[in-house]
Amino acid sequence: MSKTKVIADRHFEVAEIDPRIYGSFTEHMGRCIYEGIYEPDSEFADEDGLRKDVMELVKELGVTIIRYPGGNFLSGYDWKDGVGPLSERQARLDLAWHSLETNQFGTDQFMTWCKKVGVEPMMAVNLGSAGLPEALEILEYTNVDANSKWSNYRVKNGHKDPYNVKVWCLGNEMDGPWQLGHKSAEDYGTVAANVARGMRQIDDSLELVIAGSSNRSMPTFGQWEETILEKAYDLVDHVSLHTYYEDLGNTQEFLVCSTNLDYFINEVCDIADAVKAKIRSNKTITLSLDEWNVWRLSKYQNLPRATSWEPAPRVIEDEYDVADAVVLGNLLISILRRSDRVKIACLAQLVNVIAPIRAEVGHPAWRQTTFFPFSYTARYGRGKVLTTRIDSGKIKSENYGDVNTVDSVVTYDEATGTAAIFLVNRSLTESNSTEIELAGFKDLEILEQATLTDTNLKKTNTLATGEQVKPDTKITSTVSGKTISISLAPASWQMVRVSLKKD
Ligand code: AHR
Repeated sequence: MSKTKVIADRHFEVAEIDPRIYGSFTEHMGRCIYEGIYEPDSEFADEDGLRKDVMELVKELGVTIIRYPGGNFLSGYDWKDGVGPLSERQARLDLAWHSLETNQFGTDQFMTWCKKVGVEPMMAVNLGSAGLPEALEILEYTNVDANSKWSNYRVKNGHKDPYNVKVWCLGNEMDGPWQLGHKSAEDYGTVAANVARGMRQIDDSLELVIAGSSNRSMPTFGQWEETILEKAYDLVDHVSLHTYYEDLGNTQEFLVCSTNLDYFINEVCDIADAVKAKIRSNKTITLSLDEWNVWRLSKYQNLPRATSWEPAPRVIEDEYDVADAVVLGNLLISILRRSDRVKIACLAQLVNVIAPIRAEVGHPAWRQTTFFPFSYTARYGRGKVLTTRIDSGKIKSENYGDVNTVDSVVTYDEATGTAAIFLVNRSLTESNSTEIELAGFKDLEILEQATLTDTNLKKTNTLATGEQVKPDTKITSTVSGKTISISLAPASWQMVRVSLKKD
């Protein structure tokens, strides 16, 4: 059995965790909104047509902030189509997903839903088919309390108080040739700077996210960030990055893919800091990883386009297996590790479309395998991240060279006197005997343990199978002084929560 030593010390902190790293994303795409969160005819719907069973699972998942309304959908969306009396709303073509947008759900309903589930809304302005005027109009609609056209329209629609949305994305994936209104970095940087300047004339306290690269493999990655930040550095707070991973046939390689996210985050920080130095700024740009997940993307590439325009077609409803859940848990470790710079992260998406929650008409919603590492990390990965040193054996990766067999991060919540240790054994074949030393603490006591693994890594939670994959909560770890010992099964994710005192 391989061995690993993990060491964290109370005196060495990475950063305070921003709870917004436990965000998610709801797009008008497939059945995420319709039949996902909104289904007025459902036996599970409340008086606003919102699925109560889904809302309960969203609360349990522990998401904190939710990005809306897209995604690629955003770049062709006129937000005005989705407000006002339902009977007067007209259907429009959604060019991003080649479907029919009925507009029966829009901004006001999203705000109502956010309030009911207790999450912060994170909005995005269309910089594809629209621009500065539309961005100012929706901001006035959502945030302004004045006797003005768009704030009065909100009041007329039954919403007297402004929603005060704090975080706004300036477009979506504008570097991608697939994006409606795709722009060069020069053009997008200029537009984003102008829109940011305008939005700040309404409210200078907004947090603005400039759209970085759609993924690390984009040929423009790096140059894109440099150009757009040079144009808009002082006007924005965060730069976005998007990333999705999949098992391309080599599951061992898939199990180490969070290394790619480690690289991506570090590289975006380096590029942002290079611009900071170049323009002699005192401000540090932070990161909004506002789309990340496992997605069997290659399965959907080169599919023929739909021949008709249907509302809420069934698209990319990936069924996640045990390996996907282990990887998702590892991606969360990567996000926590850079909590000094990653201030917002959105698991894309939330319901039905590449989602931890699934819903079908006439059936109660259920949890996919990926639901569990997310919910445990969101609940217990709170307080501060401690610098976590890992002395582990190595896996020879095709893409990343030698990588640690065990990955881990330790969080410490002073308020509750608890620490959480998140661990992934990335080896497909070997168990790992792991010791975690928590220096600067005493009186360690194990409170809880959750382990997600299975001898069959392909097991999923479907409508037919029910929730057959869920964490084992048996406590197998032991404590001796400041050290916790645990045996990690191959391809497994775990969390150990301990109570402790300062030494
Ligand atoms: O989340 C699905 C899609 O992935 C989003 O619409 C887009 O932004 C990304 O390419």
